[in-house]
Amino acid sequence: MTASSATSAFRILVLPGDGIGREVVPAAVRVLQATGLPFEFLPAEAGWECFERHGTALPAETLAAAHAVDAILFGAVASPSHPIAGYRSPILALRRELDLYANIRPTTEATSAAPAVVGRRSSVIDLVVVRENTEGLYAGQETSDGETAVAKRIITRRASERIARVAFELARARRTPRDLPRVTVVHKANVLRETCGLFRTTALRVAEEYPDITADELLVDSAALQLVQRPERFDVIVTTNLFGDILSDVASYWGGGLGMAASANLGDRHALFEPVHGAAPDIAGKGIANPLAAIGCAALLLEHLGRRATDDDRRPNGHDIACPDERQGDKQMIKNRTGTLYRAPTTDSSLSDACFVWAGRIRAAMRATLADGICTPDLGGSARTDDVAEAVIASMTKQT
Ligand code: NAI
Ligand code: MG
Repeated sequence: MTASSATSAFRILVLPGDGIGREVVPAAVRVLQATGLPFEFLPAEAGWECFERHGTALPAETLAAAHAVDAILFGAVASPSHPIAGYRSPILALRRELDLYANIRPTTEATSAAPAVVGRRSSVIDLVVVRENTEGLYAGQETSDGETAVAKRIITRRASERIARVAFELARARRTPRDLPRVTVVHKANVLRETCGLFRTTALRVAEEYPDITADELLVDSAALQLVQRPERFDVIVTTNLFGDILSDVASYWGGGLGMAASANLGDRHALFEPVHGAAPDIAGKGIANPLAAIGCAALLLEHLGRRATDDDRRPNGHDIACPDERQGDKQMIKNRTGTLYRAPTTDSSLSDACFVWAGRIRAAMRATLADGICTPDLGGSARTDDVAEAVIASMTKQT
């Protein structure tokens, strides 16, 4: 269900989860509220503390609400590293239940000012990890007899094909000015011949449908080194679930680290936005978590709603792929999954336009806040979570 006029609100399920999720998600909600757009926020429970209270990490009512809303804003959950009977990470469950098969993790989502702030790179590293989100080693098929533990690594042609298509469509839609769009297929097919082999051949077959996009491939260990040594060689990386999880943490370094990295989990019908970071127990409750990853998620969410609010007739395959380097609120051409190009609505009064404009304002405000030196300790500053959120809100509302 999508809000199609200013009178029907966008319904957003808010799942702060555990730890700093409870600090950064409220900050992102305040930012969304400050846009004045029609939102209805539905808070719900999920996570470890929810499990401790109710015996389930993902209550049935939370899952039902997740199916019904326009989008989900998720924080983080504190999953223990040892097996607990009956516990399963709710984020993994949500990704599978809602078939959120594409996890889009851009490095520059937060702001191009971040590298300058943290002194990591003089030029902006602009790459996106497209992580398959429903299978691989996260398929949840593990057994152990106490002596031998076995995890099934499920790779299907269907999931490999659709995630590869997302990556190639995204590479097209990004239209990075620096050079030709490129998709790098990351795998370990020299060892995992069957599972990574199927992923690799499927992705490279999809590549043949995109002659305008350079396709190459890297073994995952080599990709990890190159992400450190030569990050500018990448544009879009497409890979399996676990590799994508690991590589996106590495890649987040170039955007300012985990405190800055936002992500979108997209399926054909549902969308969930979450910071890449976890519950950060080492800083939880101290009020110093960087809220910019979560606020970056708010910008991604707005763009998603903006696309949903455009004319559905022109989007036969449902919503579009998040384009992480959206121009700052400009009207623009958007490509849908079938490759059809259409223009985002140009009437300033339209709800869709307003979503894009506010996404741009949020990003500009994040940059301005960092440029003013207002940042949390992870970026070398002394500001608190709320200081950063308030500075972003002040800056974005000044832009109107
Ligand atoms: P983490 O991302 O929670 O923290 C790693 C390091 O980055 C910590 O030093 C933390 O303080 C710092 N950090 C993370 N986000 C930050 C922010 N916004 N501002 C400032 N510093 C930040 O990963 P870790 O420590 O490996 O896992 C902690 C818990 O979180 C575990 O229980 C794990 O299962 C869970 N987790 C949950 C995820 C999710 O819900 N999607 C993802 C990753 C971990
Ligand atoms: Mg991770």
